[in-house]
Amino acid sequence: SSVAVHAAATFPELTDDESLADIAKSAAKGESLSICVFGASGDLAKKKVLPAIFSLYYDRHLPENVRVFGYARSKMTNEEFKEKIRESLPCRISAAGNCDDVIESFLERMHYVSGLYDDPKDFKALDQAMAAEEAKMGKKAMRIFYLSIPPSIFVPVAQNAARECSSSTGETRVIVEKPFGRDLESSRELTSSLAEVLAEENTYRIDHYLGKELIENITVLRFSNIMFQPLWSRAYIRNVQICFSENFGTEGRGGYFDNYGIIRDVMQNHLLQVMALFAMEEPASLDAEDIRDEKVKVIRCIRPIEMDNVVLGQYKGRRDGDKQLPGYLDDETVPPGSKCPTFAAMALFIDNARWDGVPFLMKAGKALHKRQAEIRIQFHHAPGKLYKKQLGSASEMNSNELVIRIQPDESIYLRLNSKIPGLGMRLDQTDLDLQYKTKFSEANLPDAYERLILDVVQGDKRLFIRNDELEEAWKLFTPLLKTIEDDQMAPELYPYGSRGPIGAHYLASRYNVRWG
Ligand code: NDP
Ligand code: BG6
Repeated sequence: SSVAVHAAATFPELTDDESLADIAKSAAKGESLSICVFGASGDLAKKKVLPAIFSLYYDRHLPENVRVFGYARSKMTNEEFKEKIRESLPCRISAAGNCDDVIESFLERMHYVSGLYDDPKDFKALDQAMAAEEAKMGKKAMRIFYLSIPPSIFVPVAQNAARECSSSTGETRVIVEKPFGRDLESSRELTSSLAEVLAEENTYRIDHYLGKELIENITVLRFSNIMFQPLWSRAYIRNVQICFSENFGTEGRGGYFDNYGIIRDVMQNHLLQVMALFAMEEPASLDAEDIRDEKVKVIRCIRPIEMDNVVLGQYKGRRDGDKQLPGYLDDETVPPGSKCPTFAAMALFIDNARWDGVPFLMKAGKALHKRQAEIRIQFHHAPGKLYKKQLGSASEMNSNELVIRIQPDESIYLRLNSKIPGLGMRLDQTDLDLQYKTKFSEANLPDAYERLILDVVQGDKRLFIRNDELEEAWKLFTPLLKTIEDDQMAPELYPYGSRGPIGAHYLASRYNVRWG
């Protein structure tokens, strides 16, 4: 039986974390679980979604009675599908560990169904395939559908899945990938079309940044450490920088990207979510609704973004030794002459009592000099003149900084002025440094998709975007996007692999800020 297969596989030893077993037990209570990934032949499914489901299985976070279905148009046999997926399944917990038998036991739980996205007949066939497996498990079945497909087919797939494949014995939950629309109007259309077949309660809009370890830690840092609580406002914070950079370009995703641009791709969702968690008031509890209420409130306090406070850029090709690094317009999937921004920097302001006048500088770009995402909080300088001579006149250069490095090399560090050891009195800046790599084992840093998929299994909506939050995010960015697109604003060109357009530095210096 399926249980026997599961038991026969050699799982890694569970360490000291009793709660792992608890989670598996609670997920399993009385239910079996079917997860179906639409678009299973695609990039995200192979790179992130299926490996994350496997890691959860490997860690015994999923019930024993789990089945994973892949659905797409591509014609493949079950065996071909499994072969395609096998190579992307990681033995994450212990690189040295041999997890071949766990992989085999996982693959035995996988099934592939080929079908069209707009043909109810094909969805009926999927329903039958799922039901046949669930019958073997002989229990109530929860079904989770993951829309890992282009946004143009979200609605028909969600509708067909809800109508033809809803679980008849348990709950049905649907995970929707971004982008949730291109602007306020299209987002509202998408929301209302999905609402025709899916209750908001069962709709999980995923923003994978919310599943990242350091993002989850923002609220812990803020609300469980008394030392930060009084500092977290305009009284002590001079500016906040939320920066995202990638050291690669669109790499064949230009067709998708050109229709969206960096503001929609990264800022309206990932970075705005980070800003909301950073700036929100303390929620009444850790319940999903309380946290999301506070995020919505703070997003609503963000002042409309003025074009004057925005810099746009697009990367151009550059020669690097004997290598030619391509420009955005060299991507064959990008329309010639496109003005689509691959970089943007902007100053945002939150008009509430806590943040009045504090610039939140947001920056995101592709094809820059490094891959990094971080929040940098610069504090006011210490008043008085006691150490002015030692610190030099540019006291803002010596102010304290707290950096939350989201990736890579997750860390949190606090920049302090300190005496250089020895005779005499010389001061320098030094870091109190929490490096995740050295402090915690890598096994404790799950991929964002693992955390989020497990939350869906457990029905925890804390890290998913609620419809009113989405609405407010689009209300903030839609007028700006409209101006950029109606006026055909030309982006400033920057070389592939550089620090981005010079305009971003002028923007920051207008607010007396130096990018970190
Ligand atoms: P893909 O372009 O790889 O599409 C997934 C699958 O959908 C394809 O394998 C294909 O399967 C089917 N498909 C593709 N284009 C069409 C079309 N025009 N009409 C019908 N079916 C089509 O997408 P990704 O896997 O890259 O992304 C999936 C979703 O996740 C998207 O919404 C994307 O925005 C989002 N996302 C992706 C990220 C990534 O890194 N890739 C990151 C964050 C979000 P078949 O032909 O076999 O049916
Ligand atoms: C996705 C964007 O949402 O996030 C991509 O569509 C971007 O363009 C990606 O590359 C970045 O995610 P991560 O987790 O690699 O920082």
